[in-house]
Amino acid sequence: MRNEGLINRYRDYMPVSDDTRIVTLSEGSTPLIPAYNLSKAIHPKLEIWLKYEGLNPTGSFKDRGMTMAITKAVEEGYKAVMCASTGNTSASAAAYAARAGIRCAVLIPEGKIALGKLSQAMIHGAKVIQIRGNFDEALTQVRKICEHNPIALVNSVNPFRIEGQKSGAFEIVDDFEGVAPDFQAMPVGNAGNISAYWKGYTEYHAAGKSKNRPVMLGFQAAGSAPIVLGHPVEQPQTFATAIRIGNPASWKTAEAARDESGGLIDMVTDDEIRAAYQKLAATEGVFCEPASASGVAGLIKLSAAGYFDDKTPAHSDKIRVTCILTGHGLKDPDSAIASAEETVTVDNDEAKILDAIGLEAVVA
Ligand code: F0G
Repeated sequence: MRNEGLINRYRDYMPVSDDTRIVTLSEGSTPLIPAYNLSKAIHPKLEIWLKYEGLNPTGSFKDRGMTMAITKAVEEGYKAVMCASTGNTSASAAAYAARAGIRCAVLIPEGKIALGKLSQAMIHGAKVIQIRGNFDEALTQVRKICEHNPIALVNSVNPFRIEGQKSGAFEIVDDFEGVAPDFQAMPVGNAGNISAYWKGYTEYHAAGKSKNRPVMLGFQAAGSAPIVLGHPVEQPQTFATAIRIGNPASWKTAEAARDESGGLIDMVTDDEIRAAYQKLAATEGVFCEPASASGVAGLIKLSAAGYFDDKTPAHSDKIRVTCILTGHGLKDPDSAIASAEETVTVDNDEAKILDAIGLEAVVA
């Protein structure tokens, strides 16, 4: 069946009417991939599933929120939208604004967004403005500008973004035929997505579509971990630039998701994120961007600390966990190249090529 986009798929749960003109790029309905090798490597009881959000039209989960936010901006008569971004939001806003035929301006921290994301915002025709400042400062500025001008703000402080993004939870429950996973692990940056997933799981549970709700496990990068530390971080740092955020806008709702689900928000170091990023690509064949791997990094950390040892549910001998892989690896080719073994260059000669492959070692 053709994918008509997530608003049509989950119309009963979305704030649209029969008259709403839906702006969609056939987002959502992304694959849920069993991670056999990772599960085995991390904990004998874990059954890990990867929600591969990199397969959305612009390569990240942001498209779920953006179809809704742009649809409503158009419905409300806006001719322009704006956002601050660490990259993915700007790519998605630019694409959906282009499709809707409205203008888009994006504010990004200078030099701190991955190449793929920058190229997307540019080719879709957004006005791309780099500021000498970080994401938090950009968001403060954009909020001010949108308050005083006829421009719709499409960051996740826009409630329609959350409405669209909650569909990720619906899809997971539908894939598991009416049950939510025992745990869900995911990155936390501006904290909209963990809030959205919790809203989705909660609504589906209340509607009788899901037997249960998962325990939510959120992970920030150690250099950008305001929620874990309990205070804003003025100069957030991490190579996972998507989550280089020091003062998340959805801080309170993320804490509510954590507490209502009996979960936690912890931090993982850049080394831990990089190791998980490489492992996903090398042992599962799944290429995500660095920030997206922080959920898996978190699982590795918790498992090593014995967190899952007493968590086997009564109904199964396995602990089912979903990891939200929020963005595609191709977003950030520089990080991939910096994290992998170097290429080699040799003459176009069979013996030299076999020597470079190290054939003996390969086939032994
Ligand atoms: N993963 C990726 C790939 C992201 O781009 C983001 C956020 C997150 C995780 C964190 O999600 O903010 O809802 O907690 N990116 C935003 C952006 C901030 O501007 O693209 P969150």
